[in-house]
Parts: sequence; C-alpha cells; structure tokens
Amino acid sequence: MAVSTSSVITLHINGEKFTLPVDHRTTLLDALRERLDLTGTKKGCDQGQCGACTVLVDGRRTVSCLQFAIAAEGREITTIEGVADGDQLHPVQQAFLDLDGYQCGYCTPGQICSAIGMLGEHAAGWPSAATEDVRPEVGPPPLTVDEIRERMSGNLCRCAAYASIVEAVARAAETPAAPLIDAPQDTKEQAA
Ligand code: FES
Ligand code: FES
Repeated sequence: MAVSTSSVITLHINGEKFTLPVDHRTTLLDALRERLDLTGTKKGCDQGQCGACTVLVDGRRTVSCLQFAIAAEGREITTIEGVADGDQLHPVQQAFLDLDGYQCGYCTPGQICSAIGMLGEHAAGWPSAATEDVRPEVGPPPLTVDEIRERMSGNLCRCAAYASIVEAVARAAETPAAPLIDAPQDTKEQAA
C-alpha cells in the first residue's frame, strides 16, 4: 500500500487560520515564506544555528527551520507580521527602532521574536547560564547585559549590531506588553 507523503493541514498564524496541503518534509519556515507569503521570517543557515527564522509557537520562541509545518498544526504561531497591534508597534519593535537595534535588518525579525519570547521566559523565572542564583524562590534575575547577551545568544547578527540590540532589549524589558496570542478567526484556503 502506498504511503501518503503529504497532508492537508491548518495552521493558526497571527490570529488567522490557513489551510493548505503540504509535503510532510516541509518546514514551518518554508511553509511561511514559500506557501503563505509571510516573508518577514528570514532564512539564514536553515540548520538551527543562526536564529534568523525565529517565530513564536504557543508563545515560545522556535527556530522554524527545524520544525515541520505539519507538527505546528493546531499551535498558535506568531510571526513578525503579527507582533504589532495594528499601527501600534510592539514595545520590542519600538525599542529596536528607537535605539537602532539593526543595520541591514536581515536578522531583525528573528531578533525581535526571540526577544519577545525571551522576556516571557525571564518573567516566568527561567534562569540562564548567566544567572548567578538559580534558586526558584529568588525570582527572575535582573536583566543585566550579561543576562541579555546569554539569553539572546541563539540569534546571530552578521552586522554585529549586538550593542544596540542589547540596549533595545533592555529598554523593551521596562515596557509592559500585551499578550500576543489571540484566538484564530478567518480561515484562508491555500492552493496546492
Ligand atoms: S535559518 Fe533557522 S536557525 Fe538559521
Ligand atoms: S542587522 Fe544585519 S544581520 Fe543583523
């Protein structure tokens, strides 16, 4: 009996539903960029090492080049196209803009999505390799430069805009942000 290598899946992205047939080997990154025209998410290394493809899946940062699209079915996916609230930029986006947290901008969507996820991890009390006192009762450590650098170390920047990126993340950490995940609404059918 022939085994099917493709399926019709429904992805929940930025509050919308997209139904499309995919080969089971299609990564979430390729589904976003090549099938759904959501090209804000960038492809750098395509092997999980640069962070350019970072999106949020159920609010957690994920390198979309290492996740199969079919495995993301039913999860809430947020890409850079979905982090602003209408014309109101997300505090992390605004901080990157205000503090020049980029040069060419290629890594920036991944940096911003990663920073949003990282600030959630920090608020939840997750320690990092730079955290000196990891006892849960101590609570989240101060977001020092070392903490931010360590927590953002999965996102590379070929332009080496790291100093400004760290400043932007520190600025954004001071600004409360609304939760990003909304219930999906419209359904969009995609052609094979
Ligand atoms: S493109 Fe996914 S980590 Fe580099
Ligand atoms: S701003 Fe150019 S790669 Fe980061």
